Amino acid sequence: MDKIERMWRRGFSRREALCGLASFLAASPLLHAQRDPHGLDRHRRLLGFDEMRTAFDFEPIFRGNVPLAVYDYTAHGTDSEFTLRRNRDVFDWVELIGGGGVDPARVDTSTELFGFRMDSPIMIAPTARQQSLHPDGELGMHRAATTTATTMIVSNASSFPFPRIAEAAEGPLWYQFYPRRDLDQSREALDEGQNAGCQTVVVTIDQQGSYYERDLHDRNLGGAPRGPIRSRRSESNPYGVGQNRLWYEWRYFDDIRPMIEVPMLAKGILTGAGAKLCIEHGVDGIVVSNHGGRALDYGPSTLEVLEEVVDAVAGRVPVLIDSGFRRGADVLKALALGADAVCLGRAARWGLGAFGEPGAQKVIEIINDELRQAMAAVGRTTVGAIDRSIVTTNFL
Ligand code: FNR
Repeated sequence: MDKIERMWRRGFSRREALCGLASFLAASPLLHAQRDPHGLDRHRRLLGFDEMRTAFDFEPIFRGNVPLAVYDYTAHGTDSEFTLRRNRDVFDWVELIGGGGVDPARVDTSTELFGFRMDSPIMIAPTARQQSLHPDGELGMHRAATTTATTMIVSNASSFPFPRIAEAAEGPLWYQFYPRRDLDQSREALDEGQNAGCQTVVVTIDQQGSYYERDLHDRNLGGAPRGPIRSRRSESNPYGVGQNRLWYEWRYFDDIRPMIEVPMLAKGILTGAGAKLCIEHGVDGIVVSNHGGRALDYGPSTLEVLEEVVDAVAGRVPVLIDSGFRRGADVLKALALGADAVCLGRAARWGLGAFGEPGAQKVIEIINDELRQAMAAVGRTTVGAIDRSIVTTNFL
């Protein structure tokens, strides 16, 4: 050991350096993370149940409750998510004309569809696999809908069989159905809903099998409820891009119409021409929907095309709408542009995922209450009195 090395080993400066390094490591977030990977210092306080004020408040609670992949399955839109964003942006382009308000206590939100009375024009859209949000899944959602006198449309891809959901509460249920190429299988599925007492059948025709990128990227982060929709690779489809619903044709409605004894609706209509074809093929109601931005990306928002569809239908069948609705004022805008009812997709899921059945119930109550306030502010005491004159549109 020469002189310089001795100085380096025993010198004061080396001890100092080691001390400095030790304190640096002790303070390092890396080591902290190893001792307590979920240190509370990184948490902000989340709002409690009684502090929920809008549907949006439920979203971060839901997000915190579930694995990222489950969250993403609810949140995702197709491809670049242009249509997903547009579904929300569009509400900025429709102004409500206030003035001449009335007392909210005088507002009656009740309405009627297919001869069934409803306390409100707000309904629950069909959304799949609700048990990934909360153990009660669709059973809790149906109970929440029943408590709030809301009609729920049950997804064809539910976590529980339709008859079991129907038994969970007394409220009215509609049955959503994805076309099946095999007509015997179609009949079997349609019978299941009708035998359990569904009021209507909603045939979804827009979902053409998408490549869900968020789900794909997060599939290893907590057990995705399923991977992105893929087809088997083949010579003509080397990347296995989803094709499972590309066979749909209008005449399918003709095939299944005799199997359905209740009103049959078509969900996923975005043009007047499409709505007319539906009616020609025996459809009794239209749901203007882009599947919440989960079908074809770069399509329009539903609010933008609503009037075109309403004009084409010309009062022959009811027109419902969904995609992007989160507030009572959003609902009012759609009613002003001619919709007969509005369905909530993600908003209801946020409620269920945040607090279970009471959460879903509260989301519905909040949006109903907001609708009542908004109707009062534009001076309309009944749903029938809502007309085009309460909005101006500035669509881009
Ligand atoms: C859906 N949607 C849907 N539609 C349908 O007909 N059958 C289904 O099984 C499902 N599943 C489903 C799952 C999830 C996670 C979402 C978000 C949506 C579409 C749904 O009925 C509705 O069209 C949209 O949810 C409406 O858009 P918002 O309200 O979610 O923005």
